[in-house]
Amino acid sequence: MKIGIDQMSFFSPHLYIEMSDLAQARGEDPNKYLIGIGQTRQAVIPPTQDAVTMGANAAAPLMTDELRQTLDLVIFATESGIDQSKSGAAYLQRLLGIQKYARTIELKQACYSGTYGLMQARDYVAVHPDRKVLVVASDVARYGLKTSGEVTQGGGAVAMLVSADPQILTLENDSQFMTDDVMDFWRPNYATEARVDGKYSSNVYQEFFKELWDRYRKQTGRTIDDFDALVFHLPYTKMGKKGLQMVLPEADELQQKELLAQFEASQKYSRQIGNLYTGSLYLSLLSLLNETPGLKPGARLGLFSYGSGAEGEFYSGILQPKYHAGLVSNQVPDLLSRRQGLSIAQYEQIFEQTLQGSADRELEIKNDPAQFVLAGLKNERRQYLKQH
Ligand code: COA
Repeated sequence: MKIGIDQMSFFSPHLYIEMSDLAQARGEDPNKYLIGIGQTRQAVIPPTQDAVTMGANAAAPLMTDELRQTLDLVIFATESGIDQSKSGAAYLQRLLGIQKYARTIELKQACYSGTYGLMQARDYVAVHPDRKVLVVASDVARYGLKTSGEVTQGGGAVAMLVSADPQILTLENDSQFMTDDVMDFWRPNYATEARVDGKYSSNVYQEFFKELWDRYRKQTGRTIDDFDALVFHLPYTKMGKKGLQMVLPEADELQQKELLAQFEASQKYSRQIGNLYTGSLYLSLLSLLNETPGLKPGARLGLFSYGSGAEGEFYSGILQPKYHAGLVSNQVPDLLSRRQGLSIAQYEQIFEQTLQGSADRELEIKNDPAQFVLAGLKNERRQYLKQH
């Protein structure tokens, strides 16, 4: 039975900053950010959005009345969880109007858990072929003002429906995965910003990719010739390019050109949005699917997922004939064209407005055009609203 990604949808808030403005404000050469890191713009997450609202906003276009009545598994992957006990998926179930006889669960393993969610969903459908599973990967990437990680912030969510006979991509049963307990990036419970050993993290990412790629080739007998595109988790776009460059010499000249062109297409959206943590690999996939007109059904795509701490997985998927039908038409370009640019001073002010502490407060929701927003805190309960 073919099982995989049937539909995909994306959300990121309506605000952004230019990386050239940030470079200027931080006394850096803009080319360091634009070329050296490979980021052009960065999403700014207002206090009225969090991992739950972004996840709901991403999933909303996929919801139909039939799905609301039949969906019985919601998997929410995040490392920006809003509660130590209650799963963000329980809020999603209510906000999206999903029937109550459903399992809802939150997963955590840095940027990796979206991939585990997807694999879990595939296994569930293998046992229940008539069901669909909603997998939502949603995060706010925060390193802190004036830190070296600031240029690699961002945020947003990708929602995916997993089913039998999927429209977009079948998930092949060829995953290679590994874990190593390392401290390259983490976020203690008392902090809203990640701690990161950036250079070390970049090295671990590359080591994991190479080790899993070699293991994949050994286990499956496949070589780079079997792949039409390689898609990477992109904490910043240069990171994925470094990964690709590690295996490019295995391809002939023509294929090297093709893989580089596919990579360019896959990093287009991340370059405008920044890191999505759990959703980042799947934003690369969306970008590849939307921005590469020549992708042929039947193409084998290799996907590399990495989550600090650290866990990695490399697997492949086969592109399906009607893959465009599973995507929301023109969704990301429309969203990007409607965003509003901020000055660095405005961004810094928004960045400091975290919902810390237990005091009641109301947030300014009227300036947030998103369907689902966080309206404030009342009796230590987050107030989520559907605006329209
Ligand atoms: N023009 C072009 N490129 C330039 C440049 C310029 N004027 N100035 C610097 N660069 C290049 C550097 O050569 C380097 O390229 P390389 O990595 O190919 O060698 C790149 O820009 C970054 O410069 P660097 O000095 O290494 O930046 P940094 O010390 O500020 O740190 C990160 C960059 C990515 C390590 C940092 O932003 C970070 O820690 N981000 C968090 C990312 C992370 O770890 N995420 C979790 C892992 S998945």
